[in-house]
Amino acid sequence: MRACATAPGKTILLGEHFVVYGEPAIVAAIDRRAKVTAEELPGTAIHVASDLGIFGTFEGEVFNTSSGQEGVRNTLEPAKIAAQSVLNHSNLKRGVSLRIESEIPVAVGLGSSSAISVATVAAVGQLFDVSLSSEEIFSLSLDAERFVHGNPSGIDQRVSTFGGILLYRKGERTTEIRCPVDLPLVIINTGKNRNTGILVESVRSLRERHPAVMGQLTRAAGGLVDEGVAALSTGDLKAFGELMYINHGLLVSAGVSIEALDRLVYAAKASGALGAKLTGAGGGGCVVVLCEPGAQTEVAEGMKEAGGEPMIVEKTGTGVQTWLEE
Ligand code: PMV
Repeated sequence: MRACATAPGKTILLGEHFVVYGEPAIVAAIDRRAKVTAEELPGTAIHVASDLGIFGTFEGEVFNTSSGQEGVRNTLEPAKIAAQSVLNHSNLKRGVSLRIESEIPVAVGLGSSSAISVATVAAVGQLFDVSLSSEEIFSLSLDAERFVHGNPSGIDQRVSTFGGILLYRKGERTTEIRCPVDLPLVIINTGKNRNTGILVESVRSLRERHPAVMGQLTRAAGGLVDEGVAALSTGDLKAFGELMYINHGLLVSAGVSIEALDRLVYAAKASGALGAKLTGAGGGGCVVVLCEPGAQTEVAEGMKEAGGEPMIVEKTGTGVQTWLEE
């Protein structure tokens, strides 16, 4: 018997980084998913294999791999932590094998690690017949994100668990934003991987050195999100796009953009996009672009020349899903 779960990736539409300091953010689940297949193993080892071509076995704190690449343990450990969280939660001492397959590009701000953690928690819960509510899946998956970076807002796990477009504020109840129109998005990957923890830390340190101005920037981001909720709820994509451009400016001010991201934002504007901004931690990763309805292909083509790989994506209302296979 195998237990499977899938969970979606995400794009942050407004408010990243400032969300760590209690401001709201808007995040959308996207139609790219990670799948985890869990099977019971004899003993208590946790074996993890990924379609990145890496694999290894955790026996307590000891890790063994013969996949012979750098950083294998770091890449696989969040899935192991997610599985272990479920086993600890239900006082189980069991072995499990996890197979990870993902359509979400890794380490570029599209929530690949969260989707894997959420799907792992759900699959392991299903395998051992542990009944987990969506809230429990969310909170158990946070342990893995704490390993990835020490101070997560939880936004990625939230949207990966529940799907939809969410207004997220750390420690508060998430509300779903009902947008009456399609959100025509293009996401462009600079191809430069980055480390969320280092970028979150760089903003923390900038805030420490310039508390007054960074405080204003943070509050401005909060105001931007409030306006964004109103724009999305009425389907005013033009207003929402303008807010995305402004938000990119705030993230530049916070020091988390790079030239390749700025170039893509200008290229989006030149291609007639309604809005564009870096999405996620910055420092590389992706730009999210909001297009006029029907203009995604044209904008994506227009932006190819600026470098990067465009992906046409849609929002999805489907959060984590689990099932059993013989
Ligand atoms: O890891 P990313 O690129 O999805 O960024 C996460 C969003 C941040 O606001 C930068 C960090 C957080 O925990 O909210």
